[in-house]
Amino acid sequence: MDKVAIVTGGSRGIGAATSKLLASQGYSVCVNYRNRSDEAEAVVAEINSNGGRAFAFAADVSIESEVIRLFEATETELGAVTHLVNNAGILFTQSRLADLSVERFEKILSTNVTSCFLCCREAVRRMKNGGAIVNVSSIASKTGSPNEYVDYAASKGAMDSLTKGLSLEVASQGIRVNAVRPGFIYTDMHSDGGEPNRVQRLSSQIPLQRGGTAEEVANSIAWLLSDEASYVTGSFIDIAGGK
Ligand code: NAI
Repeated sequence: MDKVAIVTGGSRGIGAATSKLLASQGYSVCVNYRNRSDEAEAVVAEINSNGGRAFAFAADVSIESEVIRLFEATETELGAVTHLVNNAGILFTQSRLADLSVERFEKILSTNVTSCFLCCREAVRRMKNGGAIVNVSSIASKTGSPNEYVDYAASKGAMDSLTKGLSLEVASQGIRVNAVRPGFIYTDMHSDGGEPNRVQRLSSQIPLQRGGTAEEVANSIAWLLSDEASYVTGSFIDIAGGK
């Protein structure tokens, strides 16, 4: 069976590293992005120049009609979708819960959780011969991220529950659903939180004494998707340097 993967938010950070790694392992990859086509096209160009197969597709994965377009376009371009990485996610400026607006809370939930639900739903409806899904949660689902982003942490907690529940629903169909819980990874996301050097600041509090790389997260995602993890479902890998 040809391996066809969709990586949401695949244009930068963990999503870009995952797209490149999967392509190097023989997957055909849809690199989904929201609005930075230049970044997505650069990822695709690198994959194609290394002999891989990929294409970029713009879709806001928090919107149902765009998710359906994403899956239809991938099927047309690459064939039936066999693997999915729900990586797209956002956070906003560090803030205490008492100061959060309902608009911000709802935006976090729609981008981080509704997107995961929609993509999982479209995937399991289509994976007639089995498949594998990895949801990119966060160690924040366990720590709660007090004084920084409780809204973000709550969205990742919801992703964890969705991962567990869906894994049990579709196990008998040969579809495996797992999650990774990264923490303190060097990406541009921390600039969106208002502190580009957040990982550097926290390094001394991390048992392994450093932040992680997008490639280190991609390695675990790729393993969970692969046949090497054929007896693993409903499971979580924490990638947070021991935190
Ligand atoms: P990033 O900000 O570099 O990448 C996120 C990607 O998601 C971007 O390409 C962005 O355009 C895309 N995206 C956001 N909203 C979207 C939407 N509605 N539709 C389509 N694409 C959308 O961040 P990073 O660090 O690579 O994060 C990837 C995932 O890893 C996220 O889910 C994040 O919550 C998670 N994570 C990251 C950690 C870190 O320390 N960097 C720690 C724990 C989890």
